[in-house]
Amino acid sequence: MDLKKHIAIVEDWPKPGIKFKDITPLMNDGEAYHYATDQIVEYARKKDIDIIVGPEARGFIIGCPVAYSLGVGFAPVRKKGKLPRATIDVDYGLEYGKDILTIHKDAIKPGQRVLITDDLLATGGTIEATIKLVEELGGVVAGIAFLIELTYLEGRSKLDGYDILTLMEF
Ligand code: PRP
Repeated sequence: MDLKKHIAIVEDWPKPGIKFKDITPLMNDGEAYHYATDQIVEYARKKDIDIIVGPEARGFIIGCPVAYSLGVGFAPVRKKGKLPRATIDVDYGLEYGKDILTIHKDAIKPGQRVLITDDLLATGGTIEATIKLVEELGGVVAGIAFLIELTYLEGRSKLDGYDILTLMEF
């Protein structure tokens, strides 16, 4: 299936010069969303995953159906101030900003095999920070899955040594 035809490219959003890749048309199409999810499930089945971790907000949209399909749990990574119990935090840089990401301290048990999911790999800052959180809790990052990779931003160079699946490249 040609997933790219379900991605809308929005010029100058959220800032001038950014060509935003909008995944909502893909999510709006049941067949495309199901197909994309299945590609990630198939990848995850080979990796003996215990839990999925995804950063807000679009990492949830990708990760939760995969977790449901595998019958494993999902742990949300959120921006600072959103999780109600004890967390660990990490600073990170974005393609267009900077923030702090957090995860609940009890979200992952040491030794658990983790699949990280997100909609898009841009500079890699979000996933680099997510990896730090997972590893600080003793999780093993067994794989990372994205719908989209913006290859020209070279985010992959921040994720050296990790196994990555991307379904589309721009
Ligand atoms: C976007 C996107 C990825 C991240 C990619 O999320 O969904 O998580 O940026 O950029 P990076 O590789 O340069 O870190 P955003 O932070 O805009 O959050 P949102 O999904 O809550 O809108």
